[in-house]
Amino acid sequence: MRQTILLPGGAGFIGSHVAAELLTRDYDVVIVDDLSNARGDVIDRLETITGRRPVFYQADMADRAALERIFTENTIDVVIHFAGFKAVGESVQKPVAYYRNNLDTTLTLLETMAAHSVKRLIFSSSATVYGMENPVPYTEDMPRGACTNPYGWTKSMIEQILSDACVADRSLSVVCLRYFNPVGAHESGLIGEMPNGIPNNLMPYITQVAVGIRKELSVFGNDYPTPDGTGVRDFIHVVDLARGHVAAINYVNQHTGWESINLGTGRGTSVLELVHTFASVNGVEVPYRIAPRRSGDLAFCYANVDKAQRLLGWCAEKTVADMCRDSWRWQQYAETL
Ligand code: UD1
Repeated sequence: MRQTILLPGGAGFIGSHVAAELLTRDYDVVIVDDLSNARGDVIDRLETITGRRPVFYQADMADRAALERIFTENTIDVVIHFAGFKAVGESVQKPVAYYRNNLDTTLTLLETMAAHSVKRLIFSSSATVYGMENPVPYTEDMPRGACTNPYGWTKSMIEQILSDACVADRSLSVVCLRYFNPVGAHESGLIGEMPNGIPNNLMPYITQVAVGIRKELSVFGNDYPTPDGTGVRDFIHVVDLARGHVAAINYVNQHTGWESINLGTGRGTSVLELVHTFASVNGVEVPYRIAPRRSGDLAFCYANVDKAQRLLGWCAEKTVADMCRDSWRWQQYAETL
């Protein structure tokens, strides 16, 4: 039977790619987004890509009345919760706003799900929950660590809330997907990441330098104990990541209880390797200079991906060159919006 998937935050970077994967398969999609960090025309672009238009509500997930109406008007089978503030630096400046927003939206969602007997939830978590102390590669049986910023703590706290909820209600099925570093964009070039203001993350900064919006990239530190001295991350193509969510829907349909699952490639790539790959596959220049380390950064961050393979039957397929090519195609289109 065809399932209806609710995507809070579904107009954003990762949510929109999951929506595209679901619409091209046999799922009905309901997106709720307050458009505080996304554009409404993403819905039109999803229709252009997939030939199907998702149901769309512009609403804040902490708005109980709006959520109640959405759950009454639609029979929801699975929720994939992407809604939340996500800028690490901003979370340090505005911790209360981050805790209020990210926790409120989740609690209101859980209460509304309970009121409507919706039992299946997939949550956008982050590798940041491993904290600073665990050794790489990260495995899901490691304890969550001390996060370095309020954004990370909201992810860690929400994981705890969801795990407690599963203990209290044995019919709940929750999967926390711990994303590593999502980059790239849809092959159509019509959806991708669109940061507000100066990008915090590496790939959008690279694409903005390449297109001429920013003068040069600052590489934060070249004295880490890594092969070339720059930070090593597990970059994962957002389309691979989106397909991991489709696999997770099958999983939550068949199991109960709480699980955390890494979504990464299991391979580390350094900052300079990414810069050089981007420049060579796209035939563009990416001027950079070496800058001091950024506080809170680790030398290495990459996943062990055995659990995703075992429980979801999923693994990432796209290469770093694919990520660079698709990010660049999207950046050029985004200029025209
Ligand atoms: C960051 C967050 C993480 C969040 C993730 C996705 C921190 C400490 N972690 O991960 O919690 O889940 O984004 O939003 O902020 N770099 C540069 N120059 C730049 C930007 C980045 O050299 O202008 C380097 C960083 O030092 C790092 C790598 O690129 O080594 C990746 O950085 P970034 O894209 O910000 O992701 P993370 O820090 O890994």
